[in-house]
Amino acid sequence: MALTALRWREDRLELLDQRLLPAQSRWLTCHSADDVAGAIRDMAVRGAPAIGISAAYGVVLAARALGAAATAATLTPALDTLAASRPTAVNLFWALARMQRIAATQQGATLIQALTNEALAIHDEDRRMNHRLAAFGLPLLPEGGRIYTHCNTGALATGGHGTALGVLRSAWTAGRIRGVIAGETRPWMQGSRLTSWELMQEGVPVTLVTDNSAGHLMQRGEVQAVIVGADRITANGDTANKIGTYGLAVLARHHGIPFYVAAPLSTIDPALPDGSSIVIEERDASEVRQIQGTPIAPAEVPVQNPAFDVTPAALITAIITEHGVIHAPDTANMAAYLANIEGR
Ligand code: MRU
Repeated sequence: MALTALRWREDRLELLDQRLLPAQSRWLTCHSADDVAGAIRDMAVRGAPAIGISAAYGVVLAARALGAAATAATLTPALDTLAASRPTAVNLFWALARMQRIAATQQGATLIQALTNEALAIHDEDRRMNHRLAAFGLPLLPEGGRIYTHCNTGALATGGHGTALGVLRSAWTAGRIRGVIAGETRPWMQGSRLTSWELMQEGVPVTLVTDNSAGHLMQRGEVQAVIVGADRITANGDTANKIGTYGLAVLARHHGIPFYVAAPLSTIDPALPDGSSIVIEERDASEVRQIQGTPIAPAEVPVQNPAFDVTPAALITAIITEHGVIHAPDTANMAAYLANIEGR
């Protein structure tokens, strides 16, 4: 059975609790929009596309609770709660905007049905997009290479298959790459807990490394490309992704290694001109001072815990989406690419 992070059950949303993986596979049940917002905020579900899909189902749960009283106006508090759950991944706001557009046209039972259909469509589209994206990304990877990735961008972070990890998975199946190097991704360890686990289940050769090994491995010629996902890509191609991504891009440029970003169109935010205006989530100090409740630093040490950083477009070799590849992204290339996509 294909790995999945979310299951819609008509009156509830079930999320594979990613805080417990890989030690335990436990499903968390969300009965309300508040439950979904809490699960997003507390990282039970994470990864930009998966957050967007979950939020869409959260709106359905809010509408079901309202019943005949469900309208655009009565849904506003739930939409606001979901929008406040995490600030950086634009997919969350993109999915909520889609749901809001539906809510503007109907009410009551017909609205609940229309919102359910829209959430299911967002989920299904993401799953299908990932496969198209992988087909565009696969030929870019150096043949026989070992490819470095960061965080988790797989089935757990999306509707299924994954973005950057989907490219790697497809590239392995096609016999194109030799294997994957996964960085641990402090402090939530998405690389060690989730990416290495996902790849091992599929028999893709993966080597887990500490985040601070990346420069050393590149210097020794052990990395032939880097591929990562994205949480928000601005009009000029600047890309917010998991903290540590920027450092990898600088290292890759220094060593002449291609650096790819793989993300669906829903991650592109053309409303922001560049990465300087992306809101970077700052998470709780306890995530750095402790590992799973065990202190690893003085209890009161001041901490900075940004969850994301911004990689300037100039360091990105290409952005891969389900519609094709944007080489050497900049404002002009991004605009030309978006202009060619129907319905955009
Ligand atoms: O804090 P997270 O785990 O939600 O961060 C996830 C990432 O940064 C991913 O790279 C990004 O969302 C793309 S997931 C396909």
